[in-house]
Amino acid sequence: MKEIVNEVHIVCKDESELSESEHELLKEAQAATWRSYAPYSNFSVGAAVRLSDGSIVTGNNQENCAFPSGLCAERTALFYANSRYPDLAVEAICIAARGLDGEFTRVPISPCGGCRQVMLEVEHRFGRPLKVMMYGTDGVYILQSARDLLPVGFEELV
Ligand code: THU
Repeated sequence: MKEIVNEVHIVCKDESELSESEHELLKEAQAATWRSYAPYSNFSVGAAVRLSDGSIVTGNNQENCAFPSGLCAERTALFYANSRYPDLAVEAICIAARGLDGEFTRVPISPCGGCRQVMLEVEHRFGRPLKVMMYGTDGVYILQSARDLLPVGFEELV
């Protein structure tokens, strides 16, 4: 028998400790929450991704009355970025969310399993780690790679 131990490295910063570029990405993720379409959950999620040329692309959750047909903010942003700029690597993604009370969540918003899988493939596709920033009013979690969100991901086909 052998044991595999996976360590996950998460830096937790106060908003005031973010670098200029991190702060810019956060502001875009927050702004994107206001453009989400979430009439069923009233949970508005915004995602902003930084591309290798420095530009930022945003997305948000898009719901549908046939619930599974909707899509999370992270995948909306990543798929849009990859469809519009297939040759630009995605370097970072920042996520923010507002709940029923309209306020940004206190706890950092954490991506669902499907989005983690997509992030992992984005890393593989561009051959570089995808930095993940998860915003909450209590603090911002920063991970240097999506691998930290999905240590034993499905990669058989990629
Ligand atoms: N949602 C996201 O957009 N991203 C996440 O990381 C978690 C959940 C969306 C899906 C759905 O529209 C709403 O939030 C409630 O689950």
